[in-house]
Amino acid sequence: MSTVVTGATGHLGRLVVEALLRRGVRPSEIVATGRDTEKIKDLADLGVVVRRADFADSASLGAAFAGARKLLLVSTTTVGERVANHRRALEAARAAGVSEVVYTSMSNADSATMTLAKEHRATERHLRDSGVPFVILRNGWYLENYTEQLASVLEHRTVAGSAGEGRVSAASRADYAEAAAIVLTTEGHLGSVYELGGDKAFSLTELAAAYSDATGHDITYAGLPATGFAELLTGAGLPREFAEVLADADLGLARGELFTDSGDLSRLLGRPTTSLAEAISSALAARRTAH
Ligand SMILES: NC(=O)c1ccc[n+]([C@@H]2O[C@H](COP(=O)([O-])OP(=O)(O)OC[C@H]3O[C@@H](n4cnc5c(N)ncnc54)[C@H](OP(=O)(O)O)[C@@H]3O)[C@@H](O)[C@H]2O)c1
Repeated sequence: MSTVVTGATGHLGRLVVEALLRRGVRPSEIVATGRDTEKIKDLADLGVVVRRADFADSASLGAAFAGARKLLLVSTTTVGERVANHRRALEAARAAGVSEVVYTSMSNADSATMTLAKEHRATERHLRDSGVPFVILRNGWYLENYTEQLASVLEHRTVAGSAGEGRVSAASRADYAEAAAIVLTTEGHLGSVYELGGDKAFSLTELAAAYSDATGHDITYAGLPATGFAELLTGAGLPREFAEVLADADLGLARGELFTDSGDLSRLLGRPTTSLAEAISSALAARRTAH
């Protein structure tokens, strides 16, 4: 009986597979899935079972989940199609006799009103209705959502957003992945809803100050109305629909929807979460290595 990880061709899922291996799970007991399985050939080389699973194709899900005991369902990327995708995955999990589904939801999914929360809330509802034992990991914002913008921040000496002085409990993907691996490999989590986030929330003004401290440059936060921020993101090359979703998420951040002080993430990890300063320092080091 195996542990199936969806989205293993993406950032978070791959990190979960790597964390499971570090925790001593045998490669042959891990099934790593995604659509573009070429991306995880290296995991197959380690002995991890690699299967193609497309959430739009129920037959592929049934084949991918066969023999699974536990399933980590990493939410898919296409906003607007996610409820149908996740529903098909839950049906396939039930049909395969999976005894535990762990779902990566988002912060405050039960109460948040930002656009992104709707599909997570609906998926959580389907999960509860499915009758399959579950754990919900309400992952907060990724620190990488910010550090991946480092080049642009350094170029413009500005952090732009529409989050006002709202505070975000961001944590690294690696911390969320390790927490998922811990939940998948230890007992006592069934039925739990974990609000996962970084130990120290920060505002975008504080983010700009952290960039200033780390780089020695004067970096400031430029607060924009949501329409202006969406325009800026569209101008930078993001599809309009996605830019609007991100600007809407910043409004949610301003309302406190990406904040948690639950302490669940550091409690699961048994250590403090990776800090903003550490994440910026790693991103700067990676940038120096790349140049
Ligand atoms: N908390 C946050 O700040 C934050 C930020 C961004 C996203 N997210 C959510 O968290 C998830 C994981 O984050 P990430 O950084 O790992 O994202 P990512 O690197 O973009 O990976 C997304 C994964 O989802 C898979 N996927 C998407 N649509 C699929 C479908 N229809 N059928 C099968 N697989 C599908 C992709 O597979 P292929 O590449 O093989 O197609 C990929 O493995 C995202 O999918 C998104 O729901 C959270």
